[in-house]
Amino acid sequence: MGALLDVQHLTVTYGAVHAVRDVSFQLDSGEILGIVGESGSGKSTLGYAVTKLLRPPGTIQSGSVIFEGQDLVPLAEKDLRKIRWSQLAVVMQSGMNALNPVTTIRKQFEDAILAHKPMGRAAIDERVREMLRLVNIEARYADHYPHELSGGMKQRVAIAMALVLEPKVLIFDEPTTALDVVVQRFIVQNLKALREKYNFSALFISHDLGTVLEIADRVAVMYGGKIVEIQDARALLRNPWHPYTEALLKCFPDPRSDTIEVVGIPGTPPDLADVRPGCAFAPRCHRALDMCRTVTPVYEPVGDGGVACHWAEIQGGIAHG
Ligand SMILES: Nc1ncnc2c1ncn2[C@@H]1O[C@H](COP(=O)(O)OP(=O)(O)OP(=O)(O)O)[C@@H](O)[C@H]1O
Ligand SMILES: [Mg+2]
Repeated sequence: MGALLDVQHLTVTYGAVHAVRDVSFQLDSGEILGIVGESGSGKSTLGYAVTKLLRPPGTIQSGSVIFEGQDLVPLAEKDLRKIRWSQLAVVMQSGMNALNPVTTIRKQFEDAILAHKPMGRAAIDERVREMLRLVNIEARYADHYPHELSGGMKQRVAIAMALVLEPKVLIFDEPTTALDVVVQRFIVQNLKALREKYNFSALFISHDLGTVLEIADRVAVMYGGKIVEIQDARALLRNPWHPYTEALLKCFPDPRSDTIEVVGIPGTPPDLADVRPGCAFAPRCHRALDMCRTVTPVYEPVGDGGVACHWAEIQGGIAHG
């Protein structure tokens, strides 16, 4: 089975800021692909660009986003609206704030459903009950207003709303960051079960590598607007290829140890207005070679992932794809 979503050479700028730089990846059918990286690495920009929800001055400069054989980049807003939500749905960190404060939860589900397909009242009521049950919210809350729910409940409603039309692809942008640990656990543990039932694929964006490793089948690591590595989640945990991934794993406390030691990565993130050649991570990289400062590493496919790193290529003898 081919890729459900095929992103090729996507480049996004905000004026002089090159926030996403020549990013390519595929999302396979039924897969959860994690996207991880420090703050400002371009994760949200990538998520917004894929759904064409970028706000000005954000602009897709080049590249394609092929969804079921169709490139979304040149599509008009009215055609995108038919696809968004019903086929390609988004849950943002502030998803809970996207709920309309002046209508009940039930009415919001109803509006979303009816905007895409005709459905009778009884069927809608049943669907609302089912969706709320999925995210562990009692049916009676359907007749409540968003402000009557806690933040965690609202975020779960936002997830249920994203799922209601059974989209093929879901994009989660830090869906658990604003939530307490208990709700976070619930969402992480249930996402895989929801996927079994609804058979969606997902991009799961987070700055928290621990969460991503737990939830994702494969992990894409972003640095300075680029994907620097993609690997199977378990393989990446055992054997990271890119020195940045290695450094991220060191920041991530060993779940088997009692002592939680978080080691930050020394140095500062790159300036995204800087487009000089070389590897953006080189100034912070303990493995940097001379060439890393002058020659931009190319992302080389390896297995069902890949890596953009001179050192990894030399060290690992990684064959050119
Ligand atoms: N509306 C905007 N105008 C100008 N620059 C922006 C805008 N939105 C984002 N940027 C810049 O683009 C870069 C990438 O931002 P983005 O929000 O995609 O990163 P992120 O990886 O999602 O970070 P975080 O983990 O903090 O959410 C940053 O340098 C940011 O300052
Ligand atoms: Mg973000």
